[in-house]
Amino acid sequence: MTSSWRVRLLGSLVVAAAAAAVSMAPRVRAQSPVTLTVQADRPGATLDPMFYGLMTEEINFSYDGGLYAELIRNRSLKDNPDAPDHWSVVKDAGVEATIAVDTSSPVPNTALTSSLKLTTTAIASGQRVGVANEGFWGIPARPNTTYRASFYAKADGGARGRATVAIESADGHALASATVGPLTGQWKKYTATLKTGALTPSTTNQFVISSGGPGTLWVTLVSLFPPTYNNRPNGMRPDIMELLAAMKPSFLRFPGGNYLEGPNYENRFNWKATIGPLEQRPTHMSPWRYRSSDGVGLVEFLEWCEDLHMEPLLAVYAGLHIDRGANILTGDALKPVVQDALDEIEYVTGGPNTTWGARRVRDGHPKPFTLHYVEIGNEDWLNDGKASYDERFTMIADAITAKYPSLKIISTMRSQDTDFTYTHQPDRLDDHFYMTIPTALAQAHLYDGYSRSATKIFVGEWATNSPRTGDTPMVAFALADAAWLTGLERNADVVTMNSYAPLFVNVNPGGRQWAVNLIGYDALTSFGSPSYYVQKMFSNNRGNVVLPASFDPLPRLSLNEIPVAPAPPPRPGRAGGRGRRGPQGPTGPFDGLYASATRDAATGDVILKLVNVQATAQPLRIDVKSVPSIAKEASGEMLTGALDAVNTVAEPRKVVPVPVTIHDAGTTFTHELPAHSVTVLRLKTR
Ligand code: AHR
Repeated sequence: MTSSWRVRLLGSLVVAAAAAAVSMAPRVRAQSPVTLTVQADRPGATLDPMFYGLMTEEINFSYDGGLYAELIRNRSLKDNPDAPDHWSVVKDAGVEATIAVDTSSPVPNTALTSSLKLTTTAIASGQRVGVANEGFWGIPARPNTTYRASFYAKADGGARGRATVAIESADGHALASATVGPLTGQWKKYTATLKTGALTPSTTNQFVISSGGPGTLWVTLVSLFPPTYNNRPNGMRPDIMELLAAMKPSFLRFPGGNYLEGPNYENRFNWKATIGPLEQRPTHMSPWRYRSSDGVGLVEFLEWCEDLHMEPLLAVYAGLHIDRGANILTGDALKPVVQDALDEIEYVTGGPNTTWGARRVRDGHPKPFTLHYVEIGNEDWLNDGKASYDERFTMIADAITAKYPSLKIISTMRSQDTDFTYTHQPDRLDDHFYMTIPTALAQAHLYDGYSRSATKIFVGEWATNSPRTGDTPMVAFALADAAWLTGLERNADVVTMNSYAPLFVNVNPGGRQWAVNLIGYDALTSFGSPSYYVQKMFSNNRGNVVLPASFDPLPRLSLNEIPVAPAPPPRPGRAGGRGRRGPQGPTGPFDGLYASATRDAATGDVILKLVNVQATAQPLRIDVKSVPSIAKEASGEMLTGALDAVNTVAEPRKVVPVPVTIHDAGTTFTHELPAHSVTVLRLKTR
């Protein structure tokens, strides 16, 4: 558990549990009609084209075992120096063989310093022995699919000769196989193509490299790729990329989050150790307690941006780590960090005549990437970082601005840190919020009172959540998310960008370090949560100018009338299921309805985002002022569901938006918002 997570547990996750203890069944009462007035003649803030984006880091098996299509777990045998985790021996009856991690036989001139050593001491002619990898909770097998396998190997004694590589079912049946070799006494890279035939998709498979004969076999950097998005050789899982593409995100904030900082200096996101061939990437420990293969390194993040037409929002390491008490780098000790940040920006944006631009060209990407935003550090208000942040921020920001004057610099000091003074004025502040439902509803108005002349805001991490409530958000959280987002859109003059966090979770047991994440998956299936669909609805219907919109009368709800997250299940060995004690959050009253209205300059459409957090349907009279006409036919989408409903691998589309069609729209018309619903409507003015 990181200290930031602990802070949030204490600071903001209390009221939902308390509310859950009070009642799961809000009082139901008939709703009186309400009028929503939209002032189309009073356009306000312009929505920044970067308004909706993504935030990502290696957490919850986001890349390894997630977006990154690699299927082999612990492929370079670095996960545990003492044991070959996720590997096992496969052998016929009577064969005597053992496996171990070997660090005494590195592959020359590479970062492959560990290998898997299979020692076979007894085997009869015709018998089989080999090593098997279990993948990330299974190796997914799909019908009629081509897989690319590769690995480094060398062998001694009878283990020399040809080897077989195969995707095998749990009962040892080969679903696809190929032979490679001969293996020799020297390290060499082998590749093979495996094709499955007709089969039922399954995850209960393993990847096996087998040979015959007594002797020793060493393997490392064992890799197995299914088809990837845009056929990138070291690429991403198509199904998850398609979910992301459907959100139409404008930017990708990477590489973190705590993953940028690392648990300590050695394990920060050292971008220079994540580029080039996989053989040259040493891997590192993430702060989320597992080792990252660094298969998703700086270039892969950038190509991910390219594939989804997002702009990179690059966070550079700033001398602060997660471990409390670890040294924070300042003064002369920070100078190499400053240089690393400059080199990184040059790698991203530089031409072929620059040192690091040329390196990017050599790494296979001749074209520089577009970059407008650089963030310095992550959550430097935490972990004793605040006292030195002005010094660290100034050193890094001064150097960046001197070399790249057009880059916008984001500070990780929040807008709440009003006691903080800057030597180098930032262009944006990165606010982070992990909110209970009451907090999210109350904070839909957070920025209404923010000074219009103060530094503008990037809400770089936000979510409505609660610890121990599961992998992905339930409908109750999605409703609060939507209410909160209307507040960000209404305040688009001060909030210019936002991104939910965390983005991903592998839902297998042990896959999650952080409760409540936007998109879930196992090895075969991925799904968007109700909150994912809320963001997709909002991001796909942005508009670019905010219009004033107000409800009359505005329904108000008490704490026990707002949606609540059910109390968390008991933990093993503990009494559970009751509300947690702690400081109180907002107690209400809360708005029952939330709205954001925008206009899309390209189409002329007036776009309404309407959230009803009440337990009953809300009849609405919609009055759009100062437009000559609105077409009778209008369309949109609506999401609703039981408050505790979630999507899962078993039911990936249980809660999804449904189309809304209106045949009697006009400058004034009526529409009913279902109970506990999020609606987006597009009204045609041309
Ligand atoms: O989103 C999970 C974590 O929350 C991020 O890594 C960190 O920035 C924040 O504390």
